[in-house]
Amino acid sequence: MNAPAHIKKSAHTANPAEHLALLATDDMKDVNAIILERMQSPVGMIPDLAQHLVEAGGKRLRPLLTIACAHLCGGVETAHQKLAAAVEFIHSATLLHDDVIDESDLRRGQKVANRIWGNSASILVGDFLFARAFNLMVETGSLTALDILSTASSIIAEGEVHQLAALRKVDMPEETYMHVIGAKTAALFAAACEVSPVISDRPDSEKEALRRYGQNLGIAFQLVDDALDYGGFESALGKSVGDDFREGKLTLPVIRAIAKADEDELAFWTKVIADHKQDETDLEKAVSILRRTGSLDATIELARHYSSQARQTLEIFAPSEWRSTLEELSDYVVDRVS
Ligand code: IPE
Ligand code: IPE
Ligand code: MG
Ligand code: MG
Repeated sequence: MNAPAHIKKSAHTANPAEHLALLATDDMKDVNAIILERMQSPVGMIPDLAQHLVEAGGKRLRPLLTIACAHLCGGVETAHQKLAAAVEFIHSATLLHDDVIDESDLRRGQKVANRIWGNSASILVGDFLFARAFNLMVETGSLTALDILSTASSIIAEGEVHQLAALRKVDMPEETYMHVIGAKTAALFAAACEVSPVISDRPDSEKEALRRYGQNLGIAFQLVDDALDYGGFESALGKSVGDDFREGKLTLPVIRAIAKADEDELAFWTKVIADHKQDETDLEKAVSILRRTGSLDATIELARHYSSQARQTLEIFAPSEWRSTLEELSDYVVDRVS
């Protein structure tokens, strides 16, 4: 049995995300086949552009969650696989749109699609993938799953617009930031988990537990992502670092640093974020303030809190390899470097 292309290491050295991918190899083969089949179109630019993103890999974390939660709920049916593919399509669509909005250069270690095919093509192919996700959901026949994933899709868009409206504001409250990441990232993690007990017709307590697992995991994941945007390495992440700073996007590390800032530092943050005047050395200066004030560590600490909340929600499930892998995954999202 060959590991999927995006899994490079053996089971022995695998991190929890890779371990989960290995456990789910057979299901993910089916999910990837659905993804490849459903991104086809006679309009060649669609599969060309979609393939550029899909074949670059990515962690496939969200469909893996759907599959793992299905196993936790008694087993995987075709409907779970279709929903896992739908979830990855929704994620891919948001990435295509996100790289246009954020004017990024790199995604999954490659040049972003919009720098090859242009912004219009990326937006339109993103819309195509969204629509294909909805076809897949309808095919499962579950109106509840359709409701969960369509609600999540509108919440993601709301979160992105909320974030856009708050751009270049140095007085963004921490509650607003938490609300934004709960929407733009955690909503899809939550939905990816919740649809599995829905398809398996499990009790409400399990649907609620897995929804909360995904929500908490997603918040932890984005908190770490925001720390890595200042403290991570482009080569490991496969995407540009410093994007948030360049955009003037306030994330928790900066919110925490601003809360502790003296007069000079406040003037610095106002210049680079609110006035959006950035010199060549300003990113370096920002990183050094974030390190000195412990703001990156504080962000990781908060992520650890959400990840342990995620782990706790799994306690209602009988011990199993799937449950322990999902528990390990909650630690991994905090300790990850990519
Ligand atoms: C990127 O998600 C978008 C965020 C929510 C930060 P991932 O880091 O899961 O992206 P891929 O799918 O592995 O490329
Ligand atoms: C992730 O947001 C995109 C969505 C969740 C819609 P970011 O802009 O913070 O993520 P990266 O860093 O580009 O992956
Ligand atoms: Mg973004
Ligand atoms: Mg981005």
